[in-house]
Amino acid sequence: MTVVVVGSVNTDVVARVARIPGPGETLLGEDLARYGGGKGANQAVAAARAGGARVAFVGAVGSDPDADVRRRDLETEGIDTTGLVSVPGPTGTALITVAADGENAIVVAAGANAAREELEPAQRDVLARAGAVITQLEVPVPLVLQAGRERPEGSLFLLNAAPSAAMTEPATAADLLAVTDVLVVNEHELADIAGAIGTEAAIVQVAEQVPVLIVTLGSAGALVVVGTERRQVPAFEVTAVDTTGAGDTFCGVLAARLAATRPAEGSVPAIETVADAARVASAAAALAVGTAGAQDSVPTAGAVADLLARAAPRDTESTS
Ligand code: RIB
Repeated sequence: MTVVVVGSVNTDVVARVARIPGPGETLLGEDLARYGGGKGANQAVAAARAGGARVAFVGAVGSDPDADVRRRDLETEGIDTTGLVSVPGPTGTALITVAADGENAIVVAAGANAAREELEPAQRDVLARAGAVITQLEVPVPLVLQAGRERPEGSLFLLNAAPSAAMTEPATAADLLAVTDVLVVNEHELADIAGAIGTEAAIVQVAEQVPVLIVTLGSAGALVVVGTERRQVPAFEVTAVDTTGAGDTFCGVLAARLAATRPAEGSVPAIETVADAARVASAAAALAVGTAGAQDSVPTAGAVADLLARAAPRDTESTS
């Protein structure tokens, strides 16, 4: 089974600060660090380190020196980059401040990630081999929609609706949800899709539009919703060093687990299967929060297994 990740790749330029600065404020930070980043590339690395599925990446880098570095990041993980095209101009760059409590603020200069609204032939070839596809919204919506509409019949399509600005447009949200099997959002992204109607009403409304909804809830874990059934997946306790990329780690591991454990092509995974995958993804995300950097913080499958073994008694709770 191949997981195809359609998404962004960035160089993350990170400054650590005591706290996130306010508007118009200048703070003195610590050393500047550069990491491999981008929600798409982070998710691809997470899926690859999770094991159990081949991983291929569909995206774009620029024509600057960062392009080769970012391509190598992926290839070093064994990720197929035949769908990673080169376009003129800069590779995507994210300017990130990370506060002492691990929280971050991110501005992305999209660069090559925004250069294409249509998949190129080499990228469509990669997509044609997908057993599962995962995308985010750091690349143009038409590209995501094309991937959703052209993926192989019977493949699983996961959308991590981040960043969610495009989802505030009802027609865009409806188009994207119509091609989605598994939607992963946090509470803010959920509100962008459903409007300010409260979390519970938003869950009910959005769960009617996708076969599987997963709402990540930070330190409260994650909620898995399939139709009217729900499972609460507890979080793992961690000391936060850097939250950057933790959500991507969750999504990449989730995609790899669902691809590896899918009973039959074309079927929506059962809620227990999704809850199990979300528990593993949650453990991986917890480990990611404890280390600096986006891709640098993605744990190995062994480290995740160790954490799960230590936390074995904590089961998912049925809330339906
Ligand atoms: O989700 C974290 C990622 O968001 C960072 O790696 C940064 O590149 C931005 O895309």
